[in-house]
Amino acid sequence: MSNKLSLKPIQVGLLGIGTVGGGTFRVLERNQEEIKRRAGRGIEIGIVAARDLVRARSMVGPETRLTVDPMEVVNHPDIEIVVEVIGGTTLAKDLVMRAIANGKHVVTANKALLAEHGNEVFAAAQKHGVMVAFEGAVAVSIPIIKALREGLSGNRIEWVAGIINGTTNFILSEMRDKGLGFDTVLAQAQALGYAEADPSFDIEGFDAAHKATILASVAFGIPIQFKPDHVEGITQLAAADITYAFQMGYRIKLLGIAKRTSQGIELRVHPTLIPSKRLLANVEGSMNGIMVKSDAAGITMYYGAGAGSEQTASAVIADLVDVARLHTADAAQRVPHLAFQPDAMSSEPVLPMSAVVTSYYLRLRVADQAGVLAKVAGILAECDISIDAVIQREADEIDSDNAAQTDLIILTHDCVESRMDAALSRMQTLPTVLQKIVRIRKEELA
Ligand code: HSE
Repeated sequence: MSNKLSLKPIQVGLLGIGTVGGGTFRVLERNQEEIKRRAGRGIEIGIVAARDLVRARSMVGPETRLTVDPMEVVNHPDIEIVVEVIGGTTLAKDLVMRAIANGKHVVTANKALLAEHGNEVFAAAQKHGVMVAFEGAVAVSIPIIKALREGLSGNRIEWVAGIINGTTNFILSEMRDKGLGFDTVLAQAQALGYAEADPSFDIEGFDAAHKATILASVAFGIPIQFKPDHVEGITQLAAADITYAFQMGYRIKLLGIAKRTSQGIELRVHPTLIPSKRLLANVEGSMNGIMVKSDAAGITMYYGAGAGSEQTASAVIADLVDVARLHTADAAQRVPHLAFQPDAMSSEPVLPMSAVVTSYYLRLRVADQAGVLAKVAGILAECDISIDAVIQREADEIDSDNAAQTDLIILTHDCVESRMDAALSRMQTLPTVLQKIVRIRKEELA
């Protein structure tokens, strides 16, 4: 055994021992010998803050110190690394900022905290010479932060597109497989424990948006810029659109997209048609998948579970190993928090949604009359939007005036979103367009 391996274990304070904290404790204990061989010294949880001490004691055994006061953990003189797995952006933020001010390294799986306050957290960490590691914040089991920050550091990254929310991917997969509506599948997902009792954060797209925000910063070296108005969830998605998309060779996935363009950075989360033949389209159920396009490596793809107790522990412990290896190194030798040196961050702007360039799937419920398609095509042409494909279904409904109705599906080539917005508002005023037009963005990911 080297001298290094005989160092006394580095002391960790754990904030929270729920699903993730419990998994971290368990995996750290189970794999302690292997982890020590990698880290160069043992990693030991010295103190745990928990709300329910009886439950916590049953999880950590008799030796570990427990407290109900999380400030005791972040102020404890023996603790060198604080692991924050309580979530939220209020108490968690206070604790993380205090830990940093006390000169402690932080490992966190808290995507909301970083997406909303990351710049402040990283600036404080920089000032105090400590590391804030966050692999567990994005697609837990997939080492995507490591891949972007280190594995691809020789590349100019062009785009990142990810299925980074398992709950919504499970719902979309079930809707497609079983032809069921959103509400029915959501209820099933809740019954099976795949979706939270309050699933709004997942289904409205904000969980994915927090993760996409972090990925964009790490991919392009831009400050963290969470854009809630660039987020569209899956609650309005109809089973009919999933079926039509499938018939046209596409699957609909909730994608987090970060793309570098000549105008700036696109950062957005929305349901997206992607070709069924792409590997990413075949990431099903609650799994996560992330594609990265970079200039030298080309397209790389990462796949794994995006949630779970030990899956998140895997990321948290990898961060602990990194910190244990590097905490004695000069701060300038460590991997920068957002992949690029703090004084070399890019000022490329995040573009407004109106400036995003993408292609579209449109579904118009129309009166089945002569000239309807010509009028719709005319508006698209006047807005300089090129049509890629059109399908008109046979009339499937006769309304009370004995008039036939049908669905008109249009796929377009790329255009800027402001032009599509203008075309949609004009098409919507046509008397033969009978319902709100469905618009879903499409990405070829080629
Ligand atoms: N609720 C998330 C998901 C996992 O469904 O993927 C934690 O971010």
